[in-house]
Amino acid sequence: MVTDNISSIMVIFGGTGDLTHRKLMPAIYNLLYDKSLRENFCVVSIGRRDKTDEIYRNEVYESIKKFSRIKIDDELWKNLRDRIYYQKFEFHDDDGYSRLKGFLKVLDDKYKTNGNRIYYLAVAPEYFELIVEKLHQHGMTENEKSWQRVMIEKPFGKDLNSAVYLNKKITDVFTEKNTYRIDHYLGKEMLQNIMVIRFANVFFEPVWNNKYIDNVQISSSETVGVENRGGYYEKAGALRDMIQNHMLQLLTLTAMEPPIDLTTDSIHDEKVKVLKSLKELTPDLVLKNAVRGQYEGYRDEDRVSPDSDTETFAAIKVFVDNFRWAGVPFYIRTGKKLPVKSTEIIIQFKPLPGVLYFKEYGGLMPDLLVIKIQPEEGVFLQFNAKRPGTLNKVIPVRMDFCQNCQVGMNSPEAYERLIYDALRGDSTLFTRWDEVEYSWRYVDKIAEVWKNNKPDFPNYKPGTWGPYDADELLLRDNFKWWNIGGFYDENI
Ligand code: BG6
Repeated sequence: MVTDNISSIMVIFGGTGDLTHRKLMPAIYNLLYDKSLRENFCVVSIGRRDKTDEIYRNEVYESIKKFSRIKIDDELWKNLRDRIYYQKFEFHDDDGYSRLKGFLKVLDDKYKTNGNRIYYLAVAPEYFELIVEKLHQHGMTENEKSWQRVMIEKPFGKDLNSAVYLNKKITDVFTEKNTYRIDHYLGKEMLQNIMVIRFANVFFEPVWNNKYIDNVQISSSETVGVENRGGYYEKAGALRDMIQNHMLQLLTLTAMEPPIDLTTDSIHDEKVKVLKSLKELTPDLVLKNAVRGQYEGYRDEDRVSPDSDTETFAAIKVFVDNFRWAGVPFYIRTGKKLPVKSTEIIIQFKPLPGVLYFKEYGGLMPDLLVIKIQPEEGVFLQFNAKRPGTLNKVIPVRMDFCQNCQVGMNSPEAYERLIYDALRGDSTLFTRWDEVEYSWRYVDKIAEVWKNNKPDFPNYKPGTWGPYDADELLLRDNFKWWNIGGFYDENI
């Protein structure tokens, strides 16, 4: 049940890690600033390093100062600081869990948190199962008078089999309702806005189908390489790191039918239907419609094999084989070391019959609707109009709505919304098990073919848009990738 009673202790496993410092603590601070958190809330961070509460709190202060979207205020920080605790133990150490259990009871009395717990697993995936098992063994996951929830970072498995196994281990202990699988893209403002834009505007929904849409391009590009995550990335690659989760989530929100209402299950049901209707991938189709790339220099990165075949770029042509979308290609593309940091969904509409103005001018620019997810948040619409002062020259004109450019608009970070929702018991912006399952089913087909076919890597230079084959994927269909990141002018 969704409730505003968010009195709880948040226990963060991986309290000294990057995610906690960069994202979780700043998010908690901002929630406090927004008055979304009340007095009956505190945080216990678990880590394997030796440190006192004082030392840990000072480190958290520095992180909030550096990463918070809202400037740190000393008074407010003081309020939060005293509610942050640090406990040191190894994740397999039974004594550690016993001590933690006792300590949480003391904090329950102090903060009136009623035995409610959020266990946040901000740890490497190999510890998910162990921590959940230990919490269970120590009787820390059941108490009828209160609630216990688990928040799990991605990756949720590395393929379908491992995800099924992990899910069983977790749901043996926590119910599906109390399992919050994170895809941080779902916490981004503009992802939440996709449904509103689609279903709250009469001029989008009637043309949102294969009669009017020529193709859909979903791109998420990054300028950075793998940085210090080579060890993890080697086992993931762009397919598992981005496509299986974030990119397929963008696809489902773009392609789903209107849900019957806004309840969590109704929304998840519609998203799963999209994943179920993805056109079956045969090995031949994978070879034809899925392109992978690796940037020059990746093999020299820290903890990366010198002959690594891991892809840092992936582009896939996907079909949603249902009544609304049959025949419309969805091109998905993501990669590291590309020219801009940007995530966008571009809807390219079909041309009108060129019988009136347009023949002499070599045709019209297509109408485009761009949903700008980040860094700019907003909507861009390109359509045709007469150029003033000419007889009949038609040019593309644009309407550009930038949500986060407006004065005073400082969109909450994804993790703020996700932590807040988990505390309220609302799992709409988390991935339900069947979404994870069907995403893996799809992605596994690609991974299988790629595993058995050696790529010719590296095949793109840093700062370019990936390998030529990715362009070819669209040229074959007489389309081209639209530039993203606000550079639409260059297309004209
Ligand atoms: C993470 C991936 O899930 O998303 C990273 O593991 C990637 O490799 C990141 O850099 C991108 O997230 P964002 O919010 O910066 O687009």
